[in-house]
Amino acid sequence: MVKKRVAVLVSGRGSNLGALLAAAQAPDYPAEIALVLSNRPDAGGLAKAREAGVAAVAVDSRPFKGDRLAFEAEMQKVLDAHGIEIIALAGFMRVLTEGFVTAWNGRMINIHPSLLPCFPGLDTHQRAIDAGVRFHGCTVHLVTPGVDEGPIIAQAAVPVLADDTEEALAARVLAQEHQIYPAALAWLAAGRIRVEGARTVVEGATGPEGVLRNPC
Ligand code: GAR
Repeated sequence: MVKKRVAVLVSGRGSNLGALLAAAQAPDYPAEIALVLSNRPDAGGLAKAREAGVAAVAVDSRPFKGDRLAFEAEMQKVLDAHGIEIIALAGFMRVLTEGFVTAWNGRMINIHPSLLPCFPGLDTHQRAIDAGVRFHGCTVHLVTPGVDEGPIIAQAAVPVLADDTEEALAARVLAQEHQIYPAALAWLAAGRIRVEGARTVVEGATGPEGVLRNPC
């Protein structure tokens, strides 16, 4: 099997990166994590990549002082040098320009800590608690120019409990992020995702059975 060469872009601790690295160990996983790229030289994700023997490169965004085109041109050089075919954003906290996103159309995915289209942006867990929703979760989607938009590939829902703190809810969601992100990347790398307008179809995948109620 020829594995797709994936770059994981991180800005922070890289726990989703860890889940992707672990999944990619399987001989039949259709993607290889060939590069970890960060806009922050001190990102924990870079250290994690080096420990795993994966190329880890920082393109520090600060010297570019808001010149996003020049910053992205530098990132693109690194991506090209490593023969990258798919980008997985994993806690990458820079907004990408329309030009960059369009160049990677259909080949770039993101994980977001909410059930999109609810709660795009930041502070998703506290906003979910404040809104009183009974379910929250995470979403993997193809990246399009609108922030936290783009056709959804997979979601996982978790209950919001009456006494939840932001930290408790975040941890419950994060455990599910670590499940759905490796699965969604595998589907993309294996060519199993078909885009139909604003939706995607995952070839050969089925939905879960039953319903969830909260509270009960
Ligand atoms: C994750 O919860 C991810 O969903 C979120 O950042 C965290 C990164 O954690 N991403 C976003 O908020 C993007 N809008 P990690 O570094 O441990 O993977």
